[in-house]
Amino acid sequence: MSFDTSKLGEHWSSKYEIKKYIWGIEPSDVARKAFGIFKKHDFKTLLLACCGYGRNSKLFADNGMDVTGVDASQVGIELAKELDSKSNYVCASVLDMPFDGPFDAVFSLNALHLFPKHERARFIAECMGRLSKGGLGYFAVFSEHEPSYGNGPKLEENTWESLPGRPAHYYTDEDIKSEFADYEIVDTGIIEDHDMHADGPHTHMLRYVLARRR
Ligand SMILES: C[S@@+](CC[C@H](N)C(=O)[O-])C[C@H]1O[C@@H](n2cnc3c(N)ncnc32)[C@H](O)[C@@H]1O
Repeated sequence: MSFDTSKLGEHWSSKYEIKKYIWGIEPSDVARKAFGIFKKHDFKTLLLACCGYGRNSKLFADNGMDVTGVDASQVGIELAKELDSKSNYVCASVLDMPFDGPFDAVFSLNALHLFPKHERARFIAECMGRLSKGGLGYFAVFSEHEPSYGNGPKLEENTWESLPGRPAHYYTDEDIKSEFADYEIVDTGIIEDHDMHADGPHTHMLRYVLARRR
């Protein structure tokens, strides 16, 4: 059974309208790690897929990268423009981005796991396909070590509606290897990400992958 992701932008807009900067305005631990890698490669151009309200684009843009953030939430994009005026933003679906690239790098946090299997393949192809040859994509997604793993109605293999209206796929190492098989997997593993929610601190056990376009 699949599920409809076409209303995810509206779903997140209503959350951002109520809570604004839900996870705080500081960049995530994962974005800091990815920035260190991109800096070593002297990468300049970055596609930030599902950029939300700009907490991570700000880190990359303040440190000299030329950032294009894409998100389906218009409210998220408006908040991002206030928080980080240096990045460029496009309100569009990551599954059908209205520009080409190429970019040196792609970064995406907590977004790829929101889609069913066939759309995850498209998400990855849309992002990795906009990299220059040798460019790197860094994706961080829910893993099977997330506290919410297995909660809620099951929708697909390792995919549950663990919050109402928010299905999520919980990535195993095998999933990463199979979904990124067209690319060179430079590194993958588990990374802790500490979020400061409005209702208290929260730790995600994410799976990351650093993949190179050949
Ligand atoms: C969990 S939030 C993560 C936001 C951001 N990456 C962060 O960590 O701050 C997921 C984001 O994905 C965006 N999103 C959902 N479906 C999308 C789509 N098809 N295209 C682009 N963005 C989408 C939502 O609007 C939301 O901002």
